[in-house]
Amino acid sequence: MEVVETVTAYRELRKKRAGSVGFFPTLGYLHEGHMSLVRRAREENDVVVCSIFVNPTQFGPNEDFQQYPRDTQRDLAMLEPYTDVVFMPSLEEMYPEGYSTWVDVEKVTDVLEGAARPGHFRGVATVVAKLFNIVQPDRAYFAQKDAQQLVVIKKMVKELNMPLAIVTCPTVREPDGLAMSSRNTYLTTEQRKAAVVLYQSLVMANEMWQTGEHDAATIKRAVTKLIQEEPLAEIDYISVADPETLEEMEGSHAGALVSMAVRFGKTRLIDNVVLA
Ligand code: PAJ
Repeated sequence: MEVVETVTAYRELRKKRAGSVGFFPTLGYLHEGHMSLVRRAREENDVVVCSIFVNPTQFGPNEDFQQYPRDTQRDLAMLEPYTDVVFMPSLEEMYPEGYSTWVDVEKVTDVLEGAARPGHFRGVATVVAKLFNIVQPDRAYFAQKDAQQLVVIKKMVKELNMPLAIVTCPTVREPDGLAMSSRNTYLTTEQRKAAVVLYQSLVMANEMWQTGEHDAATIKRAVTKLIQEEPLAEIDYISVADPETLEEMEGSHAGALVSMAVRFGKTRLIDNVVLA
């Protein structure tokens, strides 16, 4: 495994490696969710490239950019068996003084995480576009965990004619169902126990759907009620939306994305399920 910190060094390596390139970008502090992506990339490509970069432009002014957990040595040890190249740029390498080019995917970024975190998806789309241009992958791996991020990136790739395939991978969960997240480390023991309510509400939504309840408002009401019953949970939003346009749905439809952001103390968790 080679670790490179500059675009020039990466391009030198890229020239020497033949075959298909599978890429997965991360903020680091890897967990089993990330590992499922790197293993999938390993199975499907000749060369596996991972990036570790805590991207400041996707964090709001009052968010956890400074506190975001970091452990590079541990990350590199976890990646070693599956990865050929780790791209780990500095802030200056990605955003030199006077940086001024942004990728704005309109409309689908106005709602849900985009509404709650203004500018977040501009930061995500910009850094992912830059990483795609640097790494030049054939396939890039993203997980369903960040459902809106996937919608935004797929749209960007399509509309900017980027020559790669986006591969969607399932959300990896803890044994009790909590979606793995680097931010789970912020939870107290009690909040950690309470947080399982998100998964329980998604299981319930899926059961309702599978047994024929396809009315968006009814599903949203039931999910909201279950989460409200958990005293440590504070709902930011609960959404039942069209999985592609992310517009809130009314009435019955062929499929739906149920997604939520819920706070436990200062920690904000997101999760979702696609009903089909
Ligand atoms: P990060 O949060 O590090 O996530 C990197 C990738 O891991 C994303 O595709 C994310 O959906 C996936 N992931 C997170 N939790 C997961 C889980 N429980 N199961 C499976 N996969 C999971 O998402 C980002 O970084 C950034 O926004 C990034 C795309 C790197 C741009 O900066």
